[in-house]
Amino acid sequence: MSDTLTLRRPDDWHLHLRDGAMLAGVLPETARHFARAIIMPNLVPPVVRGSDAAAYRERILAALPDDMSFEPLMTLYLTEDTDPDDVAASHASGLIKAIKLYPAGATTNSASGVRNFDHVRPVLERMADIGLPLCVHGEVTDSDIDIFDREAVFIDRILDPIRRKTPGLRVVMEHITTQEGVAYAGSGGDDLGATITTHHLVINRNDILVGGIKPHYYCLPVAKREEHRLALRAAATSGDPTYFLGTDSAPHVDALKEHACGCAGCFTATNTMSILAEVFEQDGALDKLERFASLHGPRFYGLPVNDETMVLTKGDPVVYPEKLDTGDGPVTVFDPKMPLHWRVS
Ligand code: NCD
Ligand code: ZN
Repeated sequence: MSDTLTLRRPDDWHLHLRDGAMLAGVLPETARHFARAIIMPNLVPPVVRGSDAAAYRERILAALPDDMSFEPLMTLYLTEDTDPDDVAASHASGLIKAIKLYPAGATTNSASGVRNFDHVRPVLERMADIGLPLCVHGEVTDSDIDIFDREAVFIDRILDPIRRKTPGLRVVMEHITTQEGVAYAGSGGDDLGATITTHHLVINRNDILVGGIKPHYYCLPVAKREEHRLALRAAATSGDPTYFLGTDSAPHVDALKEHACGCAGCFTATNTMSILAEVFEQDGALDKLERFASLHGPRFYGLPVNDETMVLTKGDPVVYPEKLDTGDGPVTVFDPKMPLHWRVS
């Protein structure tokens, strides 16, 4: 077995960069490895209009170190007041690559999200007309639905009806965490894709809860049972173009993670490629890593693959910092609880 792996430079199809000092702190961690990323719009206040996305894009580019190349692919945050004309104009100019749907209350900074899905029909119909993808945080928020069931219920009650009512709407099921998510995405044809995070390939719910509560493994959608983790591994390593990498790297300072009401999010930007190489090697699928991290995402989004390459070499365990210091405070880097042998050269 060779100890060098060359792939097209990867992209991250779901990333939280935040703003201000946090943006400056975390951006190099992604830009060091990834050529492009779909940038989540859940700032406070959210990125709602094209003008917000243009301004945020400028702040990201201003925070990028001079010796790094990185292209932020902007998104808008769907609200019940989103203007279909603004969406269409932002898409036509090339500024935005997707719209993000958060059910109100589902996750970090989702209060401005959608409560009544009928209220966003005009936007969804326009998106289907112009071929602009909808990135979906697929969890219901009903208090009577168990948190571990919220993804599967969302597919039945919300996502499938929306897709049936809106032929041609291109949808990315973001950060799927269940067998049901894998199966539904796999049955949807070319208009349906799904991102899978790095951490959901590695942890199950025991990692969060057994032997003391581990706030740095808490994210949304929350990690599920082992059988679901294995389904995600099988999907990611299958070579099926439905599934592609969206790290959902979501930095929160330690003070807000290690808290009585800790924030949701795992920060994986620093070591994602080493973790993925380890995971794909364990599953005998190193030859499929390039498809998952570098080829399937551009295919779904109709973008060219990157010209540059990334070389990973296998050797002694990779050393990476336990925490990243940002101007806002330390952020804990995701601990995969296994040695990582593949380093990005
Ligand atoms: C994300 C965040 O912190 O913005 N958190 C998370 O646990 N993934 C929001 C999200 O993608 O749900
Ligand atoms: Zn996210």
